[in-house]
Amino acid sequence: MPPTVAEVFREDADHPAERTSPLMQALLLGAADDWDAGGVTRAVLEVYAGDREGSALPLRFAAALHRLVLTGQAPELAAHYPTVGGTAAPELAWAPARRVLERQTARVRELTGQPCQTNEVGRTVPLLVGLAEVARRTGGPLQLWEIGASAGLNLLVDRFRFGEVWGPPDSPCRLPAPGVDLDLDGVVIVDRAGCDPAPLDPGDDEARLRLTASIWGDQVERFRRLRGALEVAGSSRVPVERAGAAEWLGHRLGAGSTAQAGVPVVWHSIVRTYVDPDEWRQVEELTARAGVWRLAYEPDPEPGARTVPLRLHGPGIERGGEVLVRGSAHGPPLSAA
Ligand SMILES: C[S@@+](CC[C@H](N)C(=O)[O-])C[C@H]1O[C@@H](n2cnc3c(N)ncnc32)[C@H](O)[C@@H]1O
Repeated sequence: MPPTVAEVFREDADHPAERTSPLMQALLLGAADDWDAGGVTRAVLEVYAGDREGSALPLRFAAALHRLVLTGQAPELAAHYPTVGGTAAPELAWAPARRVLERQTARVRELTGQPCQTNEVGRTVPLLVGLAEVARRTGGPLQLWEIGASAGLNLLVDRFRFGEVWGPPDSPCRLPAPGVDLDLDGVVIVDRAGCDPAPLDPGDDEARLRLTASIWGDQVERFRRLRGALEVAGSSRVPVERAGAAEWLGHRLGAGSTAQAGVPVVWHSIVRTYVDPDEWRQVEELTARAGVWRLAYEPDPEPGARTVPLRLHGPGIERGGEVLVRGSAHGPPLSAA
């Protein structure tokens, strides 16, 4: 039997990333209990009870509530959201959340229907480690190609500031330094491009709201980073082509784009689970056959894994890749491989 909505929400609340957010715990566990008790959560979520695994229903539900908070439509709940200056305990957010569900049942149901679309800027912290390593091995400069690029924010990695060690000091997007020994002088990006079957335009207000609502409401650092990156994208946007990974890579690798100045580096973060396994095999084969470098920031398959490896694939490296560093679902903090 497929799991109930309550079971899906409880399992999600137990993920290592969700455990770092007291607000997510309160919302997901509160909704799970309310579902079991036959409360208003059923009227909101029953229609999605048959959604396929991996459709991120708990995250879509949390994003729907955050969106109402961000747009001023749930002031009582907003008091528990530090992203809008709320100072009430996030742990106590379920009671006001339930009242929002009671008053705005149809609206929350409709917003929960939107697919989960994120662009996690913190993942540029492990990306930077990978770029430094490719530059060290090849002498650079680099072309950065991202598959599953979402709004293309991580393609702007060299416009962000990492601690006090790299990037424009006046960048509005500030990230922690990777904290590992690196030679960053060789990291020069001369070209960048990305694809996604559902790209978001960071210049579009609706897209910006969707992205910011998908951050958890008590994770102020992630929220600030995203806002900073959206500001950077305002002046240096990278258009993301609407295409799946295999089709786009096949085209780029086949069209001889690699002849352009710069060493191509294919990068992807938290994309693999969204892609059909046959298409993913094609991605791996295409890049291996073309002999291009590939940086993969994708979770290991075992459930409950606490860290995410950054793997380098490329010339002279065995099939499974070389783990350069480990990070969290959202990027920092990094730890040794
Ligand atoms: C969790 S998001 C990660 C976005 C971005 N890589 C990041 O780290 O912030 C997963 C992304 O994979 C994209 N995606 C889904 N199917 C894909 C496919 N067949 N090829 C490329 N990207 C795909 C989704 O549209 C979504 O933008």
